[in-house]
Amino acid sequence: MDAFADIAETRLDDAAREAFARDVIAGLSGAVKTLPCKWFYDLRGSELFEEITRLDEYYPTRTELALLADIAPGLGGALPREAWVVEFGSGSSRKSDLFLNALDAPRGYVPIDVAADYLEAAAGALADRLPHLEVVPVVGDFTAEIDLPPMLENAPTVGFFPGSTIGNFEPAQAARFLERARRMLGAEAHMVVGVDLKKDLDVLLAAYDDAKGVTADFNLNLLDRINRELDGGFDRDRFRHRVRYDDAEGRVEMHLESTVDQTVRVDGHAFDFRAGETIHTENSYKYAVDDFARVARDAGWRPARHWTDADDLFSIHLLAAA
Ligand code: SAH
Ligand code: TRP
Repeated sequence: MDAFADIAETRLDDAAREAFARDVIAGLSGAVKTLPCKWFYDLRGSELFEEITRLDEYYPTRTELALLADIAPGLGGALPREAWVVEFGSGSSRKSDLFLNALDAPRGYVPIDVAADYLEAAAGALADRLPHLEVVPVVGDFTAEIDLPPMLENAPTVGFFPGSTIGNFEPAQAARFLERARRMLGAEAHMVVGVDLKKDLDVLLAAYDDAKGVTADFNLNLLDRINRELDGGFDRDRFRHRVRYDDAEGRVEMHLESTVDQTVRVDGHAFDFRAGETIHTENSYKYAVDDFARVARDAGWRPARHWTDADDLFSIHLLAAA
């Protein structure tokens, strides 16, 4: 995509670097090593994610796009006219045109993302494609409170959270996110959430461990980012991408497995790894339709409608605040 060809990587500012260092040191200090997934998305990470969405094995993106196109009339009919659309984790905004065009005379679009450089390019390109729309990008972390632009006050608002990004939260965190989104978007809000469904194990595992190794590269890029931003000493050849499905939790887990006994230094701290020990980097929860509706209801939303594709791979939920 041209819009993304000449983005220059900007380094994290001091506050963000501090936050990154704190997360990495805390995550690697526990008995079970973890790293928060929001740090995947530097420029290279955002580019690799976009490549993931185009892989044969990665069914969610094409399935959700086709489903959105199918349900556009029903979706548009159920949502208010002249609304402001707020997208959480907008990335390349590749699904946003379809969504915005499904609505009746949308007023504006607020893409929110932690990946600042990528967000700016995506928002600019979308504003060029849809010139009648006001586009107000917000760089921010949706796991915390975000101030929305003032023009959204008293206007109809529609949250859009595609890509099953909600599945990257634990269910309790997902509920807290939905509560926060409801407060941010207001008492009359609607929200449209794309949620991946449970399915055959081999289909699930292949989607997160593709033959070309793009997902492995995406996972390992986190170590490169730690090296670059935090003066880390990871050797990416001494780690490998590992994927497993936890049936009891209903989630795909992504790990980085140390292939040898080793000690790695980051920001003046030393971390020991045994051969076979992993850093747990990401979860992707898969929900039955009723299970997700329950999470939404517990978070104060009314599940109004849902749609699934003919192969039952992916679901889209329409939630109403009132
Ligand atoms: N909506 C797009 C992209 C999904 S990938 C799609 O459906 O294809 C997840 C996106 O969320 C990435 O662009 C990533 O940068 C962003 N993201 C991840 N964690 C975030 C956080 N805590 N706050 C804000 N954005 C986040
Ligand atoms: N929301 C996406 C998903 O759970 C994010 C994702 C896709 C992802 N592939 C990944 C996250 C690989 C980490 C690693 O499907």
